[in-house]
Amino acid sequence: MELKVDLFSDTGTRPSREMRKFMAEAEVGDEQLGEDPSVNRLCRMVAEILDKDDAVYLPSGLMANQISYAVHCQKGDEIVMHKTAHPIHFESGAAAVIAGASIKMLDGEGGIFTAEDFEGAIRDNDYHSPQTSVVSIEQTTNLGGGRIWPLERIKEIAEVAAQHGIKMHMDGARMLNAAVAAGVDPADYGQYFDSIWIDLSKGLGAPVGSVLAGSAEFIEKARFWKQRLGGAMRQAGIIAAGGIYALENNIERLAEDHEHARMLAETIKEQPGLDIDLEGVDTNIVLFSVADGRADEFADRLLEEGVRVSRMEGLLRAVTHLDVDRDQIRYAVKTIEKTASQMFA
Ligand SMILES: Cc1ncc(COP(=O)(O)O)c(C=O)c1O
Repeated sequence: MELKVDLFSDTGTRPSREMRKFMAEAEVGDEQLGEDPSVNRLCRMVAEILDKDDAVYLPSGLMANQISYAVHCQKGDEIVMHKTAHPIHFESGAAAVIAGASIKMLDGEGGIFTAEDFEGAIRDNDYHSPQTSVVSIEQTTNLGGGRIWPLERIKEIAEVAAQHGIKMHMDGARMLNAAVAAGVDPADYGQYFDSIWIDLSKGLGAPVGSVLAGSAEFIEKARFWKQRLGGAMRQAGIIAAGGIYALENNIERLAEDHEHARMLAETIKEQPGLDIDLEGVDTNIVLFSVADGRADEFADRLLEEGVRVSRMEGLLRAVTHLDVDRDQIRYAVKTIEKTASQMFA
């Protein structure tokens, strides 16, 4: 079977020829000593985009989440997040190990909770309870289906957090997808968060890394954790340059991925045996169900035709990204139509 359209994840994007050329020519230095000009430039760019004092380049998004929690929490504290959030399912229990924190999980449609639910989850100031020190918001929601946290909801949560002295953290793995789709300046999200990061290695197409931004004081503490965890690098400019290239060239084009996701979603909506909440497709992630418990079979049949999707707790998930062009989306659309009619018509 030849893989023709890979909708498995936007983490699979590969650096383009132009990005590789830019990387090959990057100026480099000793990153651990703060002497890598390309890393420093990338961090300045992200701090500026998010309107923060400073930023730090990290090898992964996971490390950005965990360093933030470690800076914000005392051991025994509690972090509030949605029950589908990445740190709960895919970070190997790191918050318990590194920050020494526990997690309070909230419900809410599409990975998004309300300010009331957040307020209800805040612990009393009682020595029997863990103390709530962080609220963590995933923009866009990954397992929630790429949904966008509206700015207004973020503001409401920030108001509650401020009243209780709780730090605001954004897992911005796909925040730029949200910014492009919602037409929101990333700095408008940034203003509400004590720590906020973007991933370079998802829809932006760079091979490695995330950049975590915050106040000068927060970033200084984050650098200690980066060193402590072995996240400091040497001539990292060679990979950071991929991030610079991505920020300069690949942000606005995320809109294409969103258009492609909509094409897939509208096709899925019309097929026998398939169901989807069209309202729930905000960005580049398409979650859909297959009737009669036949999701696995549907995914297998798509794969036989060269279209790869992923499986998620009974649902199927297709993620659009910069390595999938319009012709590939047209092929995926036809393959979905053909497979649905073979199975359900
Ligand atoms: C919402 C979210 N947060 C964090 C991460 C972790 O990012 P990384 O793979 O760069 O560690 C991911 C990765 O898929 C993600 O989807």
